[in-house]
Amino acid sequence: MTRYTYVDSYGGNVGFFSISPVPGNAEVCVIHDVCLNKNLRGRGLAAKFMRHRLHLAKTLGYKMILATVVETNLPQIKTMEKFGWTKVDPSIESERTGNRFNLWVYD
Ligand SMILES: CC(C)(COP(=O)(O)OP(=O)(O)OC[C@H]1O[C@@H](n2cnc3c(N)ncnc32)[C@H](O)[C@@H]1OP(=O)(O)O)[C@@H](O)C(=O)NCCC(=O)NCCS
Repeated sequence: MTRYTYVDSYGGNVGFFSISPVPGNAEVCVIHDVCLNKNLRGRGLAAKFMRHRLHLAKTLGYKMILATVVETNLPQIKTMEKFGWTKVDPSIESERTGNRFNLWVYD
């Protein structure tokens, strides 16, 4: 796992995320722990942040990217759809949090 800081001309360090390779296939990764600084949410930065993550993952050589998203996370889901991610149904309930989430795939 590698943790990255998202630096943007908008305001320096504006968020962070992690990329982990999937065991057994060096061409597939998981992007996780995606977080935009709280005070910068709701201003339309999600798309730019997503473009940055996808560009980095592709530059690192990954051909397929996986992520999980809680099904009530509307800003994230809207951004996934805008960038052409595919949602895998059905959703699954987390025993830990009680939230339902889906796996999403980008290739
Ligand atoms: C997820 C996250 C990166 C999104 O960033 P954001 O700044 O909140 O999102 P934006 O304001 O750019 O909104 C993204 C889109 O969702 C839309 N949106 C926002 N709230 C919405 C709602 N309640 N219903 C429907 N659409 C909504 C916006 O209009 C925007 O659409 P557009 O690009 O067509 O204008 C940010 O909220 C975050 O870091 N959240 C906490 C951690 C997290 O949830 N990480 C992701 C885990 S998978």
